Amino acid sequence: MSRFLEERIPEYIRGIPAYVPGKPVEEVERELKIHAIKLASNENPLGPSPLALEAARNALARSNRYPDGGSKVLREALAARHGVSSGEIFIGLGSSEIIDLAARALLRPGLAGLTSHGTFALYPIAIRASGAALLEVPQRNYGFDLPAMAAAIREETRVIYLANPNNPTGTAFGAAELDEFLRRVPRDVLVVLDEAYIEYAERMDFPRSLELFRERDNLVILRTFSKVHGLAGLRIGYGIARAGLVHEWNKLRTPFNTSAVAQAAALAALDDAEHVRRSVEITRAGRGQLIAGLGRMGLHPVASETNFVFVELGPHAKQIAGELLRHGVIVRPLGWTGFPDAIRISVGAPEENDTFLAAMGQVWPAHSAVRQA
Ligand SMILES: Cc1ncc(COP(=O)(O)O)c(C=O)c1O
Repeated sequence: MSRFLEERIPEYIRGIPAYVPGKPVEEVERELKIHAIKLASNENPLGPSPLALEAARNALARSNRYPDGGSKVLREALAARHGVSSGEIFIGLGSSEIIDLAARALLRPGLAGLTSHGTFALYPIAIRASGAALLEVPQRNYGFDLPAMAAAIREETRVIYLANPNNPTGTAFGAAELDEFLRRVPRDVLVVLDEAYIEYAERMDFPRSLELFRERDNLVILRTFSKVHGLAGLRIGYGIARAGLVHEWNKLRTPFNTSAVAQAAALAALDDAEHVRRSVEITRAGRGQLIAGLGRMGLHPVASETNFVFVELGPHAKQIAGELLRHGVIVRPLGWTGFPDAIRISVGAPEENDTFLAAMGQVWPAHSAVRQA
């Protein structure tokens, strides 16, 4: 691109830090010529539901046709499941697309979007890409400080992003905290409540977001097929929002945002309760395995309500992630999300968790003195 053209791109876009995805296994294996496992993107170690795979294969054979741009069948199934109308369901190219659309529909230069420090990196990116000001509130105990966020709402604030449970720290807030927060949010400010990891949460007082949705016009709930349903590669998620907002989002999205293969797989995955149950079970067990193993090394991982574990390792965290890579284990260093001393490990299959703990057992001792210094 010519320099002159580049200079025409607004500074608020050029200044956005690029999203850093987890390294693909194939890339690491090619570069380092070793077998690698990926515990870096909070994926499902069981793979997709077999029912979803079969539905995807069948849909693939009809790939000469455009998909149903309105995702009617999937919307109706989700509406029935959640007790809302199908006009209140928006199917997105992953829930990521809806994070972006929430900002595009409501923000512009002169307005503001609010979120927490240390949360999902797409929220600040979506806010900044719209030209609005980014308001970020510091965390408390590795979680959202909802009272401080309520106090940070300004006249110009139009969208607030919350992740519950949170990525990358793995913490969750409870129903009473959310209730109190929502009471303090003006009715013309949209609250995007991202529940990508809800199925893994164990906290007994986890908010009943659908009940809140019925009571509040300004709440959007985001869910995804990428995590517990194991369909991250197909890119499909959904939002539950008031029909008026869904109507506007439909104008902004590309007409065929999700593929027929993804829609068919998602529909079948919804009916595979057994796969969901097994995924939650293997994840909760693996989470315990990782937390106990790290604890035995003298580390203090944050208690997790998700399919990943966050642990602070001190100033060598990035280097340690690099060394784990050379042992064939891909984890996520978190400097780019505001935690330069921490890494995040996604829960894998039991043998993958063992491989990580064995590699960490070799790598960590040389660094432990630095952390304690
Ligand atoms: C909190 C949170 N929301 C949304 C997403 C994106 O999910 P999707 O694959 O549906 O775009 C992620 C992905 O890691 C996430 O951690």
